[in-house]
Amino acid sequence: MTDNTARETLEGSPALATELELQRVRAEAAALRAELDETNQGVLALYGELDMQAEQLRQASDLKSRFLAYMSHEFRTPLGSILSIASLLSDELDGTLSPEQHKQVAFVSNAARELSDMVDDLLDLAKIEAGRISISPAWFDMFDLFSALRGMFRPIVDTSAVDLIFEEPAGLPRLYTDDQKLGQILRNFISNSLKFTQRGEVRVSARLESEDSIRFAVTDTGIGIPQELHGALFEDFIQVDSPLQKRLRGTGLGLSLCKRFAELLGGHVGVESEPGVGSTFYVVIPLALAQEPADEA
Ligand SMILES: Nc1ncnc2c1ncn2[C@@H]1O[C@H](COP(=O)(O)OP(=O)(O)OP(=O)(O)O)[C@@H](O)[C@H]1O
Ligand SMILES: [Mg+2]
Repeated sequence: MTDNTARETLEGSPALATELELQRVRAEAAALRAELDETNQGVLALYGELDMQAEQLRQASDLKSRFLAYMSHEFRTPLGSILSIASLLSDELDGTLSPEQHKQVAFVSNAARELSDMVDDLLDLAKIEAGRISISPAWFDMFDLFSALRGMFRPIVDTSAVDLIFEEPAGLPRLYTDDQKLGQILRNFISNSLKFTQRGEVRVSARLESEDSIRFAVTDTGIGIPQELHGALFEDFIQVDSPLQKRLRGTGLGLSLCKRFAELLGGHVGVESEPGVGSTFYVVIPLALAQEPADEA
């Protein structure tokens, strides 16, 4: 047999061809397995990194909350002093002031009051984020809540062209919830409505939403808010650009707090608004919070 004939015989053998193919497939499989192993290692390393970053984020967020809490807490005492000294001055207990001095003292106390409101909001946010805000439910009458709010806004409304109307909460049951938090939500809604309404009215109402929930609404005839911004309004530091906004102060935390307070009370907030027509901000909460005491029901 010549060399050529031998090669032809070997190459033509079906057994050898299968063997070669098998070796090739095995080698391919081994390479693939090695590649997969490497990818797995990579994925594991990525998971590790993600875990680490999540932990770092948690720590950063904790630190931020703690910083906010300490900072706002520390701000309160000096702000309180500024406010009380300004009020001593404007009451002229230490001698009379000229009209110009009265104006200047009023600037000081207005600025201090604004800062103090902002500090309170930041402190509340920090407490909510740290899970440290407590809900203290009690039985109360909406009538009392509305008259407290009416009293609070009287000084502003008396000097404004806008009417603040509280609809009689007739025929509504008593509530078992945290009246302070509910009051804070409505206060924020009302103060926004008064800020963004130049003429017309701001109307506060309450009605049953279902058998076991109630809806409070604050409706105004103010500047309104474009539909596409409704979703973002309840996030931190969101303010709508408008000529009126530029003249007003505020932090953009009020609505974000309202949303979180409503959730703490087992409910939710919402808005309906049309530019140039007005806005309605509402909160729907259960008539009774879950931990209702058995003897009072
Ligand atoms: N009734 C309203 N009519 C028109 N725009 C409103 C009304 N309520 C809220 N907005 C818009 O939503 C923004 C956010 O309101 P939010 O109460 O969170 O902040 P703020 O009032 O600007 O500041 P803060 O409440 O922290 O003092 C407002 O700045 C305003 O642009
Ligand atoms: Mg506000």
